[in-house]
Amino acid sequence: MKFLRLNDLPLAGKRVFIRADLNVPQDDSGNITEDTRIRASVPCIQHALKAGAAVMVTSHLGRPAEGKLEPADSLAPVARRLAELLGRPVPLVSNWVDGGFQVKPGEVVMLENCRVNKGEKKDDDALARRMAALCDVYVNDAFGTAHRAEATTHGIAKFAPVACAGPLMAAELDALGAALGNPARPLLAIVAGSKVSTKLTILKSLAAKVDQLIVGGGIANTFLLAAGKPIGKSLAEPALKGEALAIIDMMKARGAEVPLPADVVVAGDLAAQARANRVPVGEVKADDMILDIGPQSAARLAELISKAGTIVWNGPVGVFEFDQFAGGTKAVALAIAASKAFSIAGGGDTLAAIAKFGIGDKVSYISTGGGAFLEFLEGKMLPAVEILEQRAAAL
Ligand code: 3PG
Ligand code: MG
Repeated sequence: MKFLRLNDLPLAGKRVFIRADLNVPQDDSGNITEDTRIRASVPCIQHALKAGAAVMVTSHLGRPAEGKLEPADSLAPVARRLAELLGRPVPLVSNWVDGGFQVKPGEVVMLENCRVNKGEKKDDDALARRMAALCDVYVNDAFGTAHRAEATTHGIAKFAPVACAGPLMAAELDALGAALGNPARPLLAIVAGSKVSTKLTILKSLAAKVDQLIVGGGIANTFLLAAGKPIGKSLAEPALKGEALAIIDMMKARGAEVPLPADVVVAGDLAAQARANRVPVGEVKADDMILDIGPQSAARLAELISKAGTIVWNGPVGVFEFDQFAGGTKAVALAIAASKAFSIAGGGDTLAAIAKFGIGDKVSYISTGGGAFLEFLEGKMLPAVEILEQRAAAL
């Protein structure tokens, strides 16, 4: 991927507009419950400040209605957290699209929730031009929003004098590109989740690249069904059996494999108190639900993981929120932690599992992207990246 990188550009005295993804979860009182994305955005801002730029940073927060800033949609808590992390004031500016605010070289301001501006979500050119006029250098560091073509992620990049990627964006693309572009083999992907239908394009795109495709959760149930196994009343999509078989065949034809569980953990219902039973995969009863893989299957996955050169992980293989169904996901997490492979993980549930099993510092790269991470795995072009590449190609 060829795009300009912030760290290669002269910035002294320049007006630098940073689009970050500071879309963090909040509780009912507006307190930030998880600040990873804010911390991940700090190096870009620090770099621009140290280089002597006048820095503006903006982000969306949630999905507000355009046209009016409601208090609940304000970036105020985010600006406060960023100020703590930077150890300097971060004034918050509303109604900023046509300028009229002050920011000197070596200072930073936060521009209010960009999604309240009319035309943001439709990637309106007129809005994008007004925003582009605020800066000398536009920086997109918002990997988490790179799958959206909006005025601050796409339109502005067409019109700003210079458009480049920030360090987080560049690191995400470098890590994902390394994992899927020219990976150390075997390349192993774990794709789990409730439905084949929502991850079908990812499964197909990965089936063409990986050496082992480990499926989990409801996705694995559909694959088991396709392989002729009883799954009782487990979550599955019988209509997609054909797609599952096609993926298995496609992998087989390349000498690759989709390892299916040999044993599973079942219960009569999905509840915190549900009694779990381990059974061989052929012995699932009509009123059983498969809620995790069994220890034999987990050990087999751990072995495959230990031999992998590259690992891509999206999705827990069981209902790990309940301890009696957490064994499979825990085994996968610990095997990834112990592996010397280049490992990359992303997606909300996966990050929660990484946190639960305490392996955060043992995964080579943890993506800040949810939807953007998945669309990259699907092999889709991310519009916010594509425009940076087009600008670089036109230089
Ligand atoms: C996310 O949280 O996945 C990103 O910030 C994108 O948010 P969106 O789905 O509201 O566009
Ligand atoms: Mg989202």
